[in-house]
Amino acid sequence: MSELKNDRFLRALSRQPVDVTPVWMMRQAGRYLPEYRASRAKAGDFMGLCGNPEMACEVTLQPLERYPLDAAILFSDILTIPDAMGLGLYFETGEGPKFRKPVRTESDIQALQVIDPHKDLPYVVDAVSLIRRELNGRVPLIGFSGSPWTLATYMIEGGSSRDFRRAKQMLYNTPELMHQLLNTLAESVIVYLNAQIEAGAQAVQIFDTWGGALSHSAYQEFSLSYMQKIIDGLIREREGRKVPVILFTKGGGQWLELLADTGADGLGLDWTTDIGQARARVGERVALQGNMDPTILYASPQRIREEVSRILQSFGAGSGHVFNLGHGITPEVDPEHAGAFIRAVHEYSGPYHT
Ligand code: CP3
Repeated sequence: MSELKNDRFLRALSRQPVDVTPVWMMRQAGRYLPEYRASRAKAGDFMGLCGNPEMACEVTLQPLERYPLDAAILFSDILTIPDAMGLGLYFETGEGPKFRKPVRTESDIQALQVIDPHKDLPYVVDAVSLIRRELNGRVPLIGFSGSPWTLATYMIEGGSSRDFRRAKQMLYNTPELMHQLLNTLAESVIVYLNAQIEAGAQAVQIFDTWGGALSHSAYQEFSLSYMQKIIDGLIREREGRKVPVILFTKGGGQWLELLADTGADGLGLDWTTDIGQARARVGERVALQGNMDPTILYASPQRIREEVSRILQSFGAGSGHVFNLGHGITPEVDPEHAGAFIRAVHEYSGPYHT
């Protein structure tokens, strides 16, 4: 494998010195980019992109051609696992993801099998190998998965949900059934992420997008404990280097100490937590990733730069910060504004790393 030319992202996750703060954006390959929309039209639809390693590679690299980003993220989706389990994922324009066969009953859950990534999701493994090869050491490649709880919400609800009524009904009425589902998912996520790491992913992120919808105790029992199980099962070193794990619980700012206890290398923060306060709480133990409000990208470039400056100042001097948005970039953002954001992180962060 070729030598990594820019390892700021990996160094920051290990809290080793860097020249400037590394930056990438959740959903950096996406609909705000006209070149992404063109590729998607060529592929037919979103799943056509995900399912074709050459196309997935093409769109993964698009934001890196435009911006001086410090990491690439595999182009795929968290819902590939439930799709591989036979739930029948499809996307209806404007409505987000849906499943033809949601899991609702005990027998639905008992029928689910732990996935074999090489057999069930070869297109993801192949995409990772191809992207890694095409990156040729430019920046590290991030692999990812959804958290078991977040995947379970989509599988039970059959799509996106406002209140997670069915998933929470199962959690409260038949917790043992929910645990069975979460176990099957956690075991699947372990083999899935390890397959990505073996294919060349140099860091992995677990997206716990809906962990913040749980009560304090339910979060620990139904989301955090399964992320712990995953961390305990992951390959943590490869090619002579640590493979950092980032946990991102959206709405999880009150659980940072618990999240740091898992042994994760980095914690993703949404924009509702002050990053300086978060650092004071856990910054000796983990790196922090975030946490600019993604909707500030609708404001003027000048206002965006001021916000970058404010967040850098709040984190303060020293390594351990991976700049990112607090959630994914949205389709209506002007690509020029995204560029202003990314360039400002490098332009303004030097003095914090002397
Ligand atoms: O970050 C990246 O650039 C990598 C690609 C990536 C996608 N989805 C591509 C995508 C990643 C990391 C994800 C993760 C994902 N998918 C999450 C967790 C992160 C988060 O945003 O909270 C979730 C909850 C999903 C499920 C999902 N996939 C939803 C809810 C949607 C619809 C969203 C929307 O904006 O319409 C998707 C589709 C999806 N996944 C798109 C992309 C670029 C848009 C599809 C399109 O092109 O129409």
